[in-house]
Amino acid sequence: TILILDFGSQYSHLITRRCRELNVYAELMPCTQTIKDLNFKPKGIILSGSPYSVYDADAPHVDPEVFSLGVPILGICYGLQEMAWNMKGKVSKCDHREYGFAQLQVSKSGSGSVDALFEGLGDEMQVWMSHGDQLSEMPPEFHIIGRTQTAPYAAIAHDSKPFYGIQFHPEVTHSPLGKQVIGRFVLNICGCAAHWTMEEFIGKEIARIRQVCGPKGRVIGAVSGGVDSTVAAKLMHEAIGDRFHAIMVDNGVLRLNEAKQVHEMLNKDLGVNLTVVDASDLFLSRLEGVEDPERKRKIIGNTFINIFEAEAAKLEEQAEREEASGASSKGKIEWLLQGTLYPDVIESISFKGPSATIKTHHNVGGLLKDMRLKLIEPLRELFKDEVRALGRLLSIPEHLVQRHPFPGPGLAIRILGPVTRDQVKILQLADNIYIEEIRKAGLYNQISQAFAVLLPVKAVGVMGDKRTYEQVIALRAVQSEDFMTADWFFFPADVLRRISSRITNEVEGINRVTYDISSKPPATVEWL
Ligand code: XMP
Repeated sequence: TILILDFGSQYSHLITRRCRELNVYAELMPCTQTIKDLNFKPKGIILSGSPYSVYDADAPHVDPEVFSLGVPILGICYGLQEMAWNMKGKVSKCDHREYGFAQLQVSKSGSGSVDALFEGLGDEMQVWMSHGDQLSEMPPEFHIIGRTQTAPYAAIAHDSKPFYGIQFHPEVTHSPLGKQVIGRFVLNICGCAAHWTMEEFIGKEIARIRQVCGPKGRVIGAVSGGVDSTVAAKLMHEAIGDRFHAIMVDNGVLRLNEAKQVHEMLNKDLGVNLTVVDASDLFLSRLEGVEDPERKRKIIGNTFINIFEAEAAKLEEQAEREEASGASSKGKIEWLLQGTLYPDVIESISFKGPSATIKTHHNVGGLLKDMRLKLIEPLRELFKDEVRALGRLLSIPEHLVQRHPFPGPGLAIRILGPVTRDQVKILQLADNIYIEEIRKAGLYNQISQAFAVLLPVKAVGVMGDKRTYEQVIALRAVQSEDFMTADWFFFPADVLRRISSRITNEVEGINRVTYDISSKPPATVEWL
């Protein structure tokens, strides 16, 4: 295991991902983690970047014990400065904040060799810089292993210990050889074996689930039709078969025919026990007249919990009846399955700098508060791409494995005005055409998320010889690595033309289609 200590950089989770992509298990912990309380011995440690300066009064600092553990350490950006600062180097403010590409010249020793960190990667590489401070005086016993035009100490190494510092960010895709640099560190310098694969994970996790649930305990869990809940459900089914029961709540703001499709795929094709509850009337009546996005989220989140709990209670009663009558020996419902992923775990453990809530995304977080069920989270160590790989191994169809994310509050946050059945229908039809055409054009997998938005404004149009006065659809498509930032997708014009013409022809109530060309930031992915 590689331990990554997080000082609050927005890129920390990417360091973890890159290690995992190299098939090395890596865990992120806050920089405040003390070594004596660590329950494993890492084979190497990476110190992340940070929005702080090392000399800020409230700057976060690492437990100095890390430097006596005897394992290799790589400091990235602030991590370099933190290491140098601990070893009596000097850090100072740059004249100008450096943000963007730079060319790293790899230094050669007297005998012409380069440092182990850069071996085999060439004499020069493009790297990405993002920092306001830099090392201005080397700590004793360190030497330079790479420099850029503006940063003479862009990469440094200890003379005798395996301690490295780099000013650039190897974890971002703007540093094309960055992943190889991380690879040199974790595989060659730390000597980690590349063992972390989903094939290994599957066997171990199924065994763990069986052990945790015991021979009788039953598990229930919500499914949405998304990748995470489907993979989690199928994994549970592999582990404990019919003792797992999935519940899907139709909240009336799902995509076109979604409940039916999920039923076919999960139940008929994959054999998972599933109940679909149609609660659309209740959801839509509670949403009546509501425009405020956060209220929409709250109503949907709370109603979901009500419905799910009621359904769980029914299943529990049934399980008890069966047990009492001796009809089944499957036991009581003891566990609740959640498809929590590692980014959610990171979100809750990472070191927080100043940050504000933009939207409340996690709308089922309250589920456990009143339920006496214990939580089981088989995906909690995994990143999204690992979940996709796991899904493929579990024979989940490719179109589902690659599916774009869909928010819990569904179409309610894509209908900008009040949510009604009619508005839902219009948006479902438009969205369906949009996605269909994207798939036909072979573009679906190049886009991270695409959807239609129904605007609450009317515009004038003409159809035949008649004036129309109808609503407007906005199309959104973004490319993003982690949805923290996103770029709008550049469509070929003929695809947009086809989509627009089909929507205005086939969807009654729409006479105009627009394409959203805003990136995040300053916009967000969803409009609400
Ligand atoms: P934003 O709009 O914040 O979206 O840029 C980033 C990602 O989060 C999804 N999203 C949500 N997911 N409940 C969810 O489960 C929500 O309330 C919610 N709001 C946004 C959004 O679809 C995108 O993938």
